[in-house]
Amino acid sequence: MTHEKVALAFSGGLDTTVCVPLLEEEYGYDEVIGVTVDVGQPSEEFDEAHETAEALGLEHYVVDAQEEFADLCMDAVRANATYQGYPLGTALARPVIAKAILAVAEENDCTGIAHGCTGKGNDQLRFEAVWRDSDLEVIAPVRELGLTREWEQEYAAERDLPVEGGDGGAYSIDTNLWSRSVEGSELEEPSHVPSEDIYAWTSAPGSETQELTIEFEDGYPVALDGEELDSVTLIETLNDLAGDYGVGRTDVMEDRMLGLKVRENYEHPAATTLLNAHEALESLVLTQEERQFKNYIDQEWAEKGYQGLVDAPLVRALEGFIDETQERVTGSVTIRLEGGQARPVGRESPYAVYSAEAASFNTEDVIGGIEQNDATGVAKYHGFQQRLSNKVTEAANEGRTDWGGDDAE
Ligand code: ARG
Repeated sequence: MTHEKVALAFSGGLDTTVCVPLLEEEYGYDEVIGVTVDVGQPSEEFDEAHETAEALGLEHYVVDAQEEFADLCMDAVRANATYQGYPLGTALARPVIAKAILAVAEENDCTGIAHGCTGKGNDQLRFEAVWRDSDLEVIAPVRELGLTREWEQEYAAERDLPVEGGDGGAYSIDTNLWSRSVEGSELEEPSHVPSEDIYAWTSAPGSETQELTIEFEDGYPVALDGEELDSVTLIETLNDLAGDYGVGRTDVMEDRMLGLKVRENYEHPAATTLLNAHEALESLVLTQEERQFKNYIDQEWAEKGYQGLVDAPLVRALEGFIDETQERVTGSVTIRLEGGQARPVGRESPYAVYSAEAASFNTEDVIGGIEQNDATGVAKYHGFQQRLSNKVTEAANEGRTDWGGDDAE
């Protein structure tokens, strides 16, 4: 007789806890193994997962994927990636988590792989996009059995499952290095103004200010105030620093992939700081046409990031363009943290497409062989079509064939 094993994405919360007996009873598996992937959640979440797994007698694996996740967040910075104002913390973490769980499942000769997502959200799609590349049976008990939170609570009580404190409180919260999201309960009412206590990473903006300098190399943030930091440490440090100034709060109506709108509150102090700094440096070193075109590239990148499809051929192609442009995104940006904002207040780079002399009002110098008076011809042409069109139209509307002709100017 074969012993069939299924790997479950496990957090120790209500959904994934009820999935354990269900995978055995409803899906016929002999053994469930739980996998929790570390993408920078707070340590309490690992304690909860650990304790619940122990109480369930579940073999429990914890995989550290912080570095891999942080690297992806840095790619997101190079792509100035936000979706409807949200810097994609949950979205970018999902493929990383899905791959780590799949690896554990394969090492343990599992024949199934499961998550506790509902059929309404984005995460089911992001997980399965990765898992359906394997031969494992993909199982989504909550979605497939049509479970509700109430049903799960009753079931857990009947079975005496270890869910104390495991229902996560009033809100549904998802935390990782890049963002913390809060949804549910009274926040589901779009008109409800959230109270301060939904925030854990950011203080209410006050009147204090602080300046810091971020250095970039090839579009990657590499140092803070002159100190080189690895990506994980840089993100953690900036979450603390900028969080104190209330930086990186967003309250949005988000369009999910299935079309449902959901009210989301996010905190992402490091993401906001790094994204603002990166964009400020790009504004100095990229040409106007590169900046304009890169907007489209960035938007596409963010869209695929939101969908959990960072391995799409399109993303590799977009990154070809991004790589090419980022070779010059080297330099530093001074950011002022103040009143909930991370405002670029200074920038420098050896690649600056900038000549103070050329732009100055106070010079008679000839730059690149061009002098002030050379603009006269350009100024004469500028707006020619609008002047001509307006005159021709006026004449035509009045039934005149003569619109003023060559001496119209
Ligand atoms: N709406 C976001 C996304 O799909 C985040 C969802 C986070 N989940 C949560 N339970 N708060 O990427």
